[in-house]
Amino acid sequence: MNPSLRKRVTTRRVIEMKRAGEPIACLTAYDAMTAALFDTAGIDVILVGDSVGNVVQGHETTLPVTLEHMIYHTQAVMRGNHHALIVTDMPFMSYQVTPQEAFRNAGRIMKEAGSGAVKLEGGQRVLDAVRMMTESGIPVMGHLGLTPQSIHQFGSYKQRGTSEGEADAIKRDAVALQEAGAFAVVLEKIPAALAAEVTSMVDIPTIGIGAGSACDGQILVWTDMLGMSTEFRPRFVRRYAELHDVITSAVAAYVDDVRERRFPDTEESY
Ligand code: KIV
Repeated sequence: MNPSLRKRVTTRRVIEMKRAGEPIACLTAYDAMTAALFDTAGIDVILVGDSVGNVVQGHETTLPVTLEHMIYHTQAVMRGNHHALIVTDMPFMSYQVTPQEAFRNAGRIMKEAGSGAVKLEGGQRVLDAVRMMTESGIPVMGHLGLTPQSIHQFGSYKQRGTSEGEADAIKRDAVALQEAGAFAVVLEKIPAALAAEVTSMVDIPTIGIGAGSACDGQILVWTDMLGMSTEFRPRFVRRYAELHDVITSAVAAYVDDVRERRFPDTEESY
């Protein structure tokens, strides 16, 4: 389609995509340049994830990320991408204290960053906050299964939903999030069969990450799928490029050229 005729994806559109059986392609992004590249490539949804804490800030967990960081990164993404639905993660402790505080912080994200929606982790414990937001016109994406903000409670990034009890809780939470007005739900690192079951139980789209092919959409952290790191290679990530190798060899060539006075040449000088 002519890019100038493409309209920005809305939360309503992703729900229609589920109904029409059209898979939803989502990626994370944290800056304008990457968001612009993904615009050209036709991505449906960009999540400004609190994975910014790991990927950009170099932290071990997502816990140190603040509301101000999320607003700043979303503003940059909004400037670079004009067609995807932009969803902003609510960072740790921006929505857990009271539903009122969660509501106010979600409002700041929508107002100051211009996002199309917010995302928060958890089921039962966030329902009041989700209800308050959705009743006031703030679209909410849920996040179940492996929820990285609870890493210190879980103690590991292992698969979730493998016991009957945990699987039942994930199913209940997905339905409850839908009833509270959520427009979509991320399912992270749960068995493919459980994700398929959840997907058929709810009318809102499920967006999988390590949750198999039956989900209505898929999301990956962009630096993982483009091979920016040599260390992090979980089974659920397909590497579509090896940018680590491309970038390190290009920079090493530049370093050599500068040291050997091969750069700049006369053509590159004024
Ligand atoms: O923060 C993030 O990038 C996420 C995705 C992994 C879903 O929550």
